[in-house]
Amino acid sequence: MQPTTQSLEVRKLSPALGAEICGVDLRDELPEETFAQILRAWHDNLVILLRDQNLSEEAQWQFGLRFGPLSGGYIRELETSREGVVYVSNVRKDGKLIGILPDGEMQFHSDQSYTEQPSQGTMLYAITIPSVGGNTLFANCYKAYETLPDDVKIRLRNLKALHVYDYNVNPTHRSRDIPKDAPRRTQPIVRVHPATGRKALYINRLMTAHVEGLSGQESDDLLGMLFDHIEQPQFIHEHVWRPGDVLMWDNRCTLHARSDFDPSETRLLRRVTLKGEPVVGEVAA
Ligand code: OGA
Ligand code: MN
Repeated sequence: MQPTTQSLEVRKLSPALGAEICGVDLRDELPEETFAQILRAWHDNLVILLRDQNLSEEAQWQFGLRFGPLSGGYIRELETSREGVVYVSNVRKDGKLIGILPDGEMQFHSDQSYTEQPSQGTMLYAITIPSVGGNTLFANCYKAYETLPDDVKIRLRNLKALHVYDYNVNPTHRSRDIPKDAPRRTQPIVRVHPATGRKALYINRLMTAHVEGLSGQESDDLLGMLFDHIEQPQFIHEHVWRPGDVLMWDNRCTLHARSDFDPSETRLLRRVTLKGEPVVGEVAA
């Protein structure tokens, strides 16, 4: 008999974005056609969730590699044995953190937006989750762009903004005192997604510091208005973690943030970071 490819069950998570993909065990070697359906669901829904997984570091790393090369380069003392894998955790061993981003609330951001080739997507696998909080919130930046008034869309055309971030100074919240040598990159404010061709707002409260060519006040006013617009409830889905969740977001068309949690509770997730491509802006009209 010919092998038949069944279509995967894809259930929307919220009106804002996100979909759960059911019936896949990521420990299995996924056929090309199944992977193609997962990729399509990711591009269509911006965030995908696969629940009740039981993933070794090796298996998660292998699944990440199906999407393309990974982004490594994290601090060597951290507990991981594979380039592109890092833990997001407040767990300490011998007094030292084993992972990144240990503490509480985090402002909305897009991973690596301050770099030349920001990560295309980030995958987290939940291992231990606090009893309350530590939820991850996602904002749909396509919808945020599409719902802007026409005069604002015209104003944003060809505008660029400077993204600055220093993990050692302001890992979770924007700081006024960012060192002069902090990593930084100017990016278009409206980004064209390389796979879908759709336009998305590409700025975020944690990392975007200044709009090129505007005075300090004009820039703060414009960015403040855009941050408030993106972070409206109708564009947001809040994910409440369960151990065994594998969730992957698209950094090119979503922002993510984290709600607070009790630091005395353990939070442990394993992260695989996909490499990205240079950011492409709107083509001049
Ligand atoms: C990240 C991140 C959010 C979370 O890993 O880039 O922002 O919920 N994590 O831990
Ligand atoms: Mn992040």
